[in-house]
Amino acid sequence: MEFNFMFYSFASFFLIFLFRCLFKFFKSNSRELPLPPGTLGWPYIGETFQLYSQNPNVFFASKQKRYGSVFKTHILGCPCVMISSPEAAKFVLVTRAHLFKPTFPASKERMLGKQAIFFHQGEYHAKLRKLVLRAFMPEAIKSIVSDIESIAKDSLQSLEGREITTFLEMKTYTFNVALLSIFGKDEVLYREDLKRCYYILEKGYNSMPINLPGTLFNKSMKARKELAQILAKILSTRRQMKLDCNDLLGSFMGDKEGLTDEQIADNIIGVIFAARDTTASVLTWIIKYLGENLSVLQAVTNEQEAIVRGKEKCGEEQTLTWADTRKMPITSRVIQETLRVASILSFTFREAVQDVEYEGYLIPKGWKVLPLFRNIHHNPEIFPDPEKFDPSRFEAAPKPNTFLPFGNGTHSCPGNELAKLEIMVLLHHLTTKYRWSMVGANSGIQYGPFALPQNGLPIRLTRKP
Ligand code: HEM
Repeated sequence: MEFNFMFYSFASFFLIFLFRCLFKFFKSNSRELPLPPGTLGWPYIGETFQLYSQNPNVFFASKQKRYGSVFKTHILGCPCVMISSPEAAKFVLVTRAHLFKPTFPASKERMLGKQAIFFHQGEYHAKLRKLVLRAFMPEAIKSIVSDIESIAKDSLQSLEGREITTFLEMKTYTFNVALLSIFGKDEVLYREDLKRCYYILEKGYNSMPINLPGTLFNKSMKARKELAQILAKILSTRRQMKLDCNDLLGSFMGDKEGLTDEQIADNIIGVIFAARDTTASVLTWIIKYLGENLSVLQAVTNEQEAIVRGKEKCGEEQTLTWADTRKMPITSRVIQETLRVASILSFTFREAVQDVEYEGYLIPKGWKVLPLFRNIHHNPEIFPDPEKFDPSRFEAAPKPNTFLPFGNGTHSCPGNELAKLEIMVLLHHLTTKYRWSMVGANSGIQYGPFALPQNGLPIRLTRKP
């Protein structure tokens, strides 16, 4: 008995000692690894000025040319490792995703709400993702094609004969589609109130988080509170009427495990944020590229007119169906090529949760890691003549991990099918019924935060005779 006790005590001490030695060995070993090549610039300021005093993509591209596809820098007060190869992007976003957590500025977290999907990992994130995907997978969005179509037709009709800022009008369209996908057809009841509050809220997204009366941040926080009150009213109406809907709100409310009202509100606001400006910027770029590439515009128009003629021939109703949207290969390639060339989300942010070794380099715990989607999409070895807008390059499927407009891995975009669907529906009506011409200079790009044609692309839209 005594012997057993002594033996087990000795064995446990020995094991603890062994683990400590191993831990120290690996820790010191990882510390001995070199940091990736690159420069860190001035203390605290780092290379923030170099990044923001020019087109950020020029900064990334020149660094990559000098240091290769993994390099260090220091921006916005944080040391960072930037990665621009498909393999490194897969490592950070997919195979070792658990070692890199998503990270956002504190002001964004407060405005969208701490419980929103973007800020989480693990079980809570997986549960939210399941609920979001349930509402946005093809099976679920098939049934709203004709409602999206009504929104697209109304939007275009209201713009006829006018000089418009494309991005602003596309934002209205994508906002209305986002509300439809969240609240179903009832969205029209709340549209104006939600719009008023959301438009104030978004002005504070990139503001200094100073919560004093009169500051942008303060106004945004008030608008956020009002948004949460409107959402609480919608939730209570649905509960009273025992409505069982298969939109996003229904998915959040119906889950057995149950989300709190606060979690639902944070995620509804989060989805509007993720869905609106992204899709509106892509639509703006498509309208620009089609306007500049008339043979591509003609090919898209022919494809869309063939769908109209096909329906006339069969005596079918002239409303679009999900099946129609599967007969748009040329339009789909235009969307893919726009996502590649414009790369509206040039990169995303992660943070190393522990020291990580990648290809002999150390990525220290707490450092930001930025997969540079745009650099991958503009690498001539992956996409030859990368600045050229050439949708035919997507006739062959891109190699794995080289085309990441919707990200990759556990945080990749759950709304990608809806985004593509609403773009196709708008392009169907735009190309079959309208012409447009660009107004003024249109070669510049602005970043705020998404890449966008200068001044939001002013155009004049007229109906075809
Ligand atoms: C063309 C338009 C869009 C683009 C280019 C886009 C792109 C992306 C990308 C790159 C990510 C991953 C970010 C990361 O890994 O850090 C993402 C995440 C997300 N997107 Fe989209 N998106 C678009 C439209 C939409 C739409 C229409 C919705 C909703 C209806 C949506 C909802 C989301 C959500 C909820 C996430 C977070 C997922 C998570 O953290 O698990 N997006 N999007």
